[in-house]
Amino acid sequence: MNRWHEVDHYLTETVVRPDDAVRNAVSATHDAGMPAIEVTAGQGKFLMLLARMSGARRILEIGTLGGFSTIWLARGIPEDGTVDTCEFELAHAEVARRNLDSAGVGHKVTIHVGAALDTLLALSGPYDLFFIDADKVNNPQYLEAALRLSRLGSVIVLDNVVRGGNVLNADGDESTLGTRRALEIMGSHPRLESTALQTVGAKDWDGFALAVVRS
Ligand code: DHB
Ligand code: MG
Repeated sequence: MNRWHEVDHYLTETVVRPDDAVRNAVSATHDAGMPAIEVTAGQGKFLMLLARMSGARRILEIGTLGGFSTIWLARGIPEDGTVDTCEFELAHAEVARRNLDSAGVGHKVTIHVGAALDTLLALSGPYDLFFIDADKVNNPQYLEAALRLSRLGSVIVLDNVVRGGNVLNADGDESTLGTRRALEIMGSHPRLESTALQTVGAKDWDGFALAVVRS
């Protein structure tokens, strides 16, 4: 086991301390044969804290998978807050619905099944926080949609921006190029104040970008 994984395990057990609801959501997702690419518990709780720190009440997530990050996001908002989450695969959405209901946050969450680019056209803002964690090729379009649905002070998080260093491949695959374009927008858009951080841990070497809408 990579030492990063051991440290992540230690930090998770010592600091994050995920409860049975989130542990069960991960097992149920893996048992359903879905890809094990959900955020770690530490990252999930980071999202929860970001929601709480920013006082978010309306969250938009792109990429539900089994609803693991969704559970954390829903925990970060008040009882009457809402999460809209977009998922392409109906089978994934069904697993996510069960996980969200089992975790006791289902009443806060609407899962929109279908291509997120279509769903986004029908949604109205403003949202307080965005978590973009879906197909990477569309990252620039997802970011533009978030900007359209944002207000001054909205928070945007973009997952998987490093991918083991792949982000440096200017002639990389379409996913890499999608992420690179989104990062360029985050760095240069007049309405965004942005940063990006590398991470190591249970999901190896990756990173996320974070922005606040400043106008
Ligand atoms: C992949 C996607 C993710 O959102 C992630 O966090 C890790 C991996 C993937 O498509 O491989
Ligand atoms: Mg991800």
